[in-house]
Amino acid sequence: MRAVRCQEYGPAEKLVVADVPAPQPGASDVLIQVKAAGVNFPDTLIIQNQYQIKPPLPFIPGNEVAGVVQAVGDKVSRFKPGDKVMGFAFVGAFAEQIAVPEASCFPMPETLSFEQAAAFTMIYGTSYYALNQRGRLQAGETLLVLGASGGVGLAAVELGKLMGATVIAAGGNPEKLAVCKERGADHLVNYSEADWKDQVKQLTGGNGADVIYDAVGGDYTQTALRCINWNGRLLVVGFASGEIPALPANLMLLKSSSVVGVFWGNSIAREPEANRDNFQQLFQWAMAGQLSPYVCASFPLEQVADAMNLLLQRRSVGKVVLTTE
Ligand SMILES: NC(=O)c1ccc[n+]([C@@H]2O[C@H](COP(=O)([O-])OP(=O)(O)OC[C@H]3O[C@@H](n4cnc5c(N)ncnc54)[C@H](OP(=O)(O)O)[C@@H]3O)[C@@H](O)[C@H]2O)c1
Repeated sequence: MRAVRCQEYGPAEKLVVADVPAPQPGASDVLIQVKAAGVNFPDTLIIQNQYQIKPPLPFIPGNEVAGVVQAVGDKVSRFKPGDKVMGFAFVGAFAEQIAVPEASCFPMPETLSFEQAAAFTMIYGTSYYALNQRGRLQAGETLLVLGASGGVGLAAVELGKLMGATVIAAGGNPEKLAVCKERGADHLVNYSEADWKDQVKQLTGGNGADVIYDAVGGDYTQTALRCINWNGRLLVVGFASGEIPALPANLMLLKSSSVVGVFWGNSIAREPEANRDNFQQLFQWAMAGQLSPYVCASFPLEQVADAMNLLLQRRSVGKVVLTTE
């Protein structure tokens, strides 16, 4: 089968597309013929050896797919060849085939295309875990999303609305922010403008946001903590700016606010019931037509570098996917 291989750490241009042996499904695995695979920011970090978990070289990057079941192991009961499915793995998705454990496989909602289904798991899994379990976002509260036009950010905007919050989408580019408005954001704030903190204060009647979803880090985080409400929760989701912020503790003291870490990938194994419940709700919304990933571009496997560079150069909106045909 054809697959994208990371043979040495470095920029996306170092990735190669090679013919490699197809994976053999274990007894509890589902072998998927991949139609599309989602590209996520962590993929761009893993290939550069900058991610917290480091697979041994060589490896096939990518962690989410949508496709058709080709074969199943003896112990698999929920799927059969021919089923349309979505699958999730740590690596191995940028390939024509992938074997994933049955537990990491879901039936594909009919409302989604293969591209949308391949873009679903990471962004909604992360953002719903962040807002629901970690942020305890309540209907009627105000949610501020930093990096709102990105993959996980746009998912947070959509989920914030479904959870009944007033959503302020913050980003650096008016065209990208316009998509956040289309996807339900109540207010837009451009954080390349010096007074963006005051704009958030003004939009919240001087109080600040109850929950801040931060996928960007750097200086943005400290500024955001200066426009958080009393008892507010700042969710540490990612550092797309490339900078891990240091936060003065007095800012938390002044607002009785909390800074809350979010690591969805690890939560799946540690809190499997919560993750299952979350996905049940996410699929309900998807099947009701209330949730579908915004895919801005799709590329063949051979153009994996172009796909990753869209994210790294801040040019993507929502999700980018790779396709195998
Ligand atoms: N904690 C978890 O469980 C978890 C799960 C998934 C992802 N993440 C993390 O979440 C972050 C976002 O991931 P994603 O897949 O949503 O990425 P993405 O689609 O590339 O979105 C990132 C957003 O950050 C903003 N940004 C600000 N400075 C940037 C810079 N220097 N380079 C690139 N983007 C910049 C961009 O919006 P503007 O141009 O509008 O500023 C962009 O839309 C990453 O750090 C990722 O590792 C965490």
